[in-house]
Amino acid sequence: MAPAPLSDAQGRAITYLRLSLTDRCNFRCSYCAPLGPERHEDPLSRAEVARLVAVFARLGVRRVRLTGGEPTLRRDLLDIVGAVAATPGIEEVALTTNGQALDRLAAPLRAAGVARVNVSLDSLDPARLRRIAGQAASLDRIVRGVAAARAAGFASVKLNAVVVRGVNEGDLGDLARFAWRAGAVVRFIELMPFGEGEPVPLAEVKALLRAQGVRLEPDPSRGWGPAYHMRGHAEVGGRPVTGLVGFIGAMTENFCEGCNRVRVAANGSLRACLGGRDQVDLKPLLRDEPDDAVIAARIVAALAQKRDRHQMQAGAGALPPMIGTGG
Ligand code: 5AD
Ligand code: SF4
Repeated sequence: MAPAPLSDAQGRAITYLRLSLTDRCNFRCSYCAPLGPERHEDPLSRAEVARLVAVFARLGVRRVRLTGGEPTLRRDLLDIVGAVAATPGIEEVALTTNGQALDRLAAPLRAAGVARVNVSLDSLDPARLRRIAGQAASLDRIVRGVAAARAAGFASVKLNAVVVRGVNEGDLGDLARFAWRAGAVVRFIELMPFGEGEPVPLAEVKALLRAQGVRLEPDPSRGWGPAYHMRGHAEVGGRPVTGLVGFIGAMTENFCEGCNRVRVAANGSLRACLGGRDQVDLKPLLRDEPDDAVIAARIVAALAQKRDRHQMQAGAGALPPMIGTGG
């Protein structure tokens, strides 16, 4: 008998797995990467990832997002994508990346089975981008990567911008115009307390966009999960441009209500919630437990404990860093 579809303690169906493939990153985004000496954990192998995804698929997961750290740092990324995409029950594979290697990898990723890509891009000013993402961040390469992603024919390309007080508040209109001209959706994300920086509430983000020449109107394409969209209109060189703007209000809006996701960190620990402290270490089971049903039971039990909303307001101190869990 097929097990009942996975749901959490609040009755929310869990159909979306976000899987971090590495806690390494070639960038050092101030809001994500921990300061101080780096400690890396052994990531799940390709075979362990494939097994884990198959277990989740049998529990009703239909979409998988591969994330990091920076997933393109895995040499076996294309093999992993192929294995995940070939898993019975998995309907869609998506990838989140900093875009630095997309120039080279967009077409092979598409061919291996990635349907959608999200690229992190917080500023179109090279100096401000480096201030946020560190000295390795090359705006030129990311811009070429976004173009390559568009050319590769993904079902969607989204640009994720985390808005940080005093850093990139002046860049929002330009990011929107750039995204639309590149055939992408731009999404503005409220900073969550995993690293440095002060968040800007979404209400203020919308006001900043209007002040920077972007007119916003409601859009029926609600999407699913915690993001919602509006239609934006602006001008570039006197000509109208339009596109979607996504908003992810992790801190000030009711972001947890539509939660449909579960996360597995690079080290194999299951996190029912990004902003919760509960974790279950699946790595030993993936290595030593022959019976998939035992792994499935652990996953079901962990999600049965999932709370109705994240615990981030309570202070970040004890949250595991974002870099190993994935945004
Ligand atoms: N707050 C909000 N979003 C974050 N991300 C990483 N750290 C944070 C944070 N502290 C998001 C970035 C990136 C994705 C990998 O995770 O938008 O695109
Ligand atoms: Fe790397 Fe993404 Fe974290 Fe930036 S937000 S340090 S690009 S994993």
